[in-house]
Amino acid sequence: MTTESTALGHLQAHHGDFANFRDAMINSSAGRFGPIWWGVFDTYVHQASAVVDLGTGPGLLLPMLRERLPDAHITGVEIQPEMLEPAQENAAKAGATLLRANLEQPLPLADGCADLVTCVMVFHELPHPPPLMAEMARLLKPGGRLLLYDWLRRDLRNYLDEDQELTPDTLQHFREHCLFSLDDLEFLAERNGLRVLESVGRRGGRFAILALEKPL
Ligand SMILES: C[S@@+](CC[C@H](N)C(=O)[O-])C[C@H]1O[C@@H](n2cnc3c(N)ncnc32)[C@H](O)[C@@H]1O
Repeated sequence: MTTESTALGHLQAHHGDFANFRDAMINSSAGRFGPIWWGVFDTYVHQASAVVDLGTGPGLLLPMLRERLPDAHITGVEIQPEMLEPAQENAAKAGATLLRANLEQPLPLADGCADLVTCVMVFHELPHPPPLMAEMARLLKPGGRLLLYDWLRRDLRNYLDEDQELTPDTLQHFREHCLFSLDDLEFLAERNGLRVLESVGRRGGRFAILALEKPL
């Protein structure tokens, strides 16, 4: 089991300056939570009474979830102090609960507590992501849905921006961002008893949004 400080050390190596990373996440949120995300959401989420957003970051998704699910109990989970500050504000705006917890450990949430779990650009950040898939399956009620949005494996040639220097840091990001293919993510989901409803590619195959279901 990793402690919070080990998890933060890993994230620090991945993100560098936490405050810069928080700002980057805030500035790029309109791209993530745009028409493609909401198209998948509206197709696969018709109602939900309990929602958990894992790795909520600055918590920008929380008020957007509230608009669509006015009566749901919404929980955001996050560990980084710099993220927790804006996340607290957004959780308050959304009437949501914010839980400070480490996704590398079993969460203090009951089995089957959620009919919707969202996990956006988080899965690749864990040093060993597979147990998080099992944890997400555990949190879902039978019939509940998981929207998993993450990076997909690509060749280095396609990963690097034109003229981007290949520093040790870039290579480390490449390792983390390009670990799993779409088939790998679907395989991990299926190994944990989840059914793939649809996988939607984004930005020329850089990312995918997977709509997954825990069967009844
Ligand atoms: C790329 S950001 C995405 C934030 C948010 N989902 C969004 O799309 O705006 C990933 C978030 O996952 C959080 N995270 C990564 N590993 C975590 C862990 N072990 N426990 C809790 N949160 C974690 C990070 O702190 C960060 O805020």
